[in-house]
Amino acid sequence: MAEIRLVNIVKKFDEDTVVNNLNLTIEDGSFTVIVGPSGCGKSTTLRMIAGLETPTSGEIWIGDDCVTNLEPGKRNIAMVFQNYALYPTMTVRKNIEFGLVNKKVPKAERESLIQEISDIVGLTDHLDKKPHQLSGGQRQRVALARAMVKKPKVFILDEPLSNLDAKLRGQMRRELIQLHKRLGTTFVYVTHDQVEAMSMGDQIILLDKGVTQQMDSPMNMYHDPNNVFTAEFIGTPPMNILDRVHLNTVLPTLFENVKYVGFKPEHAEIIGKRRSEGRIMSCCKVRF
Ligand SMILES: Nc1ncnc2c1ncn2[C@@H]1O[C@H](COP(=O)(O)OP(=O)(O)OP(=O)(O)O)[C@@H](O)[C@H]1O
Ligand SMILES: [Mg+2]
Repeated sequence: MAEIRLVNIVKKFDEDTVVNNLNLTIEDGSFTVIVGPSGCGKSTTLRMIAGLETPTSGEIWIGDDCVTNLEPGKRNIAMVFQNYALYPTMTVRKNIEFGLVNKKVPKAERESLIQEISDIVGLTDHLDKKPHQLSGGQRQRVALARAMVKKPKVFILDEPLSNLDAKLRGQMRRELIQLHKRLGTTFVYVTHDQVEAMSMGDQIILLDKGVTQQMDSPMNMYHDPNNVFTAEFIGTPPMNILDRVHLNTVLPTLFENVKYVGFKPEHAEIIGKRRSEGRIMSCCKVRF
């Protein structure tokens, strides 16, 4: 297990800066979720941690080692992708075993590891099947087992559940949380789904355009957003934001020196309705 630190990380593709001076600490043993809109730099950040992309500048540390220029195979990190990338002609057993054969792990040890891991992820009865004979959730578990069998220091998972239907996704979320508790290994999990982030992470990093907006616990993210972006990204439905124009119209004197006022939907109570220009308007009372 190990803490991961990104220090002043910049990543440019040609002239495009896609990660801009990122500083973050992923605590040892945490379930850290990186969340943010499409294109904000989540996968690029994960790929730099795994060593599949090199930062333009800055440093990446795993524990006491600076790994910025270390090749992926030496980082002791396992990565699970959105498309499970299983070998279609190999059985589940062979898929899980593949990385171990490459690492020249002796046969008896390989067999006991496969047994142990397939038991944990519930694949014991499916070891002789090929990927096309499995459901989406089972395939996802093979991808996990293949990562787990290498006993990495860190798991990084890039939107691993987005190909599954809503019910299975819910089930796999719970299974991943259990798995994390059981293994105690650092998990870094990427999603663009804030509900997934809030329900799974013990630390959340919200990115926008390659810049950290907030790094916090789910509770603080929800109840104490640092800025308007976080307030509008987190929560279903999200916080209501009144800007200066609204405030000048409805509450000109109450909030004289503020730029924005936000309130959660659950803090508003509808106390009356009136008709204005043919539309029904609700009047609400807000508890700040
Ligand atoms: N190899 C590459 N060459 C050029 N531009 C790239 C490359 N990889 C990513 N980008 C750009 O970097 C930005 C961030 O991409 P990234 O894949 O990290 O986003 P993301 O947050 O994972 O998005 P999504 O939620 O859609 O997966 C995007 O604008 C993307 O077009
Ligand atoms: Mg991505």
